[in-house]
Amino acid sequence: MSFSSIRQALLDLPDAAPEPMVCSVFISELLKLLGFNKTEIIPQFTTGNGGDAVDYAARKNSDGDIFINTKSNPYLLLEAKGRNINLSPGSAPYKSAVKQIENYLLAPNCKFVQWGLIANADRIQLFRKHGKIIHPALPCLEVTSDNVDKIVSVVKQKIEEPRKALTVAVYNNKGGVGKTTTAVNLAAMLTALGKRTLIVDFDPNQRDLTTSLGLKPKEDALYSWLVNKNDVPSNLIDACKFTSKSGLAWQIDVISSDEKLQGLEEDRLRQLISINRLKQVLYPHSEKYDYILIDSPPNWRFFSQSAVYAADVVLIPTKHNSIFSLENAATAIGRFIREIQNQRKDGGPIALPIFYNGESITDTGRRTAEEAIDEIIIRAKKHAVRPIDLTPYFYPKSTPAKVNRHIFEIPSYAHIAGAAFTRVPAAYKNKTASEYYLALAKEYFLQ
Ligand SMILES: Nc1ncnc2c1ncn2[C@@H]1O[C@H](COP(=O)(O)OP(=O)(O)OP(=O)(O)O)[C@@H](O)[C@H]1O
Ligand SMILES: [Mg+2]
Repeated sequence: MSFSSIRQALLDLPDAAPEPMVCSVFISELLKLLGFNKTEIIPQFTTGNGGDAVDYAARKNSDGDIFINTKSNPYLLLEAKGRNINLSPGSAPYKSAVKQIENYLLAPNCKFVQWGLIANADRIQLFRKHGKIIHPALPCLEVTSDNVDKIVSVVKQKIEEPRKALTVAVYNNKGGVGKTTTAVNLAAMLTALGKRTLIVDFDPNQRDLTTSLGLKPKEDALYSWLVNKNDVPSNLIDACKFTSKSGLAWQIDVISSDEKLQGLEEDRLRQLISINRLKQVLYPHSEKYDYILIDSPPNWRFFSQSAVYAADVVLIPTKHNSIFSLENAATAIGRFIREIQNQRKDGGPIALPIFYNGESITDTGRRTAEEAIDEIIIRAKKHAVRPIDLTPYFYPKSTPAKVNRHIFEIPSYAHIAGAAFTRVPAAYKNKTASEYYLALAKEYFLQ
């Protein structure tokens, strides 16, 4: 592969080159270097979302399936901008380009797309699509003629990797909001839908997830895996098998917690295990699963920080009647997750919109919660150090023109609470519970 042509393209491109020039001089070289030939690229690809067309769609040909002929199932979409458009993160045109690629990635003709790129020759950012979730796969990179070859290689390596699991941390600093219950039942539902799912109990001082699946904490498996650099303990993963009355069989893989991780002082933990270690050790496993869910404790210390660090996305259960759970969600999104983003420097993880879990809601209760959320949003916008618009995280259906206060809910349901006693996820035992968690899976994850 020769990079000299793309380096030259960048040098030739005027500073304020408009989009068509960026496309013909730079993007054509970029797609070529990413490994797509002329019959594998369709410009102005119709996404199926009304008349919307994305600048480029690409997919490698396979036997008898030439992309420019079949025009089906693109693998990568690219939205190009002119060099006169400021794509630095935080700028208004950047935000609108991200929104644009997200819409294309979710459009009907793009269901099987896995990657989205935005690029204007000064900036390139790669996004991954997994089901309904779109998250940055790389930071928004600044391109120069000196680093363009390196950037192209990094992007190429990412898009050629085998498909990886989506890693989800279930987190709220507030206790008792349903983190563990959500992790278990969401895993049960995803498994029932044929998705290979691994759950990790990363709350070793409570070990509720381990217990609720009828497993015994290990003496030492997870600990050694995290502390020793090489070995994967042979007893690390348990296959939890369940059978329905009608004879259906499901398997959830579980990394339960172990005694050796319990009761360790925070300083000692940090000496033994770095915050990025869980992400590192899960990485090779993520090829075997569609989803990896990590349960975390109700604090912002080593285990939660590691879980969030390891995640692509963070799922945040709250309770409408607990102002603390709503405030804590805001802190997690506005501060904690951003702290980890700054450490990781790859754009991740991202917060998913909150949901209400496990309390019956009256209209008055709902209104009280909405007033509290409205106030939280106003306060966060005016924050002196870390201003943020939390609207998409609390009210994801809002548009700039109109606030829509819909928040997804898992209602309070006795079978959900009771199931932990029988060591079988409610989503497997009870039709209503399974419908609730199917709705959760569809709301956030499945396209
Ligand atoms: N939708 C629901 N309906 C009824 N009960 C629920 C529901 N969700 C969770 N619960 C119950 O609420 C309690 C707290 O749930 P869970 O242990 O999952 O919370 P958590 O956030 O993991 O708590 P911790 O912060 O202690 O880890 C449990 O008894 C659980 O069975
Ligand atoms: Mg818990």
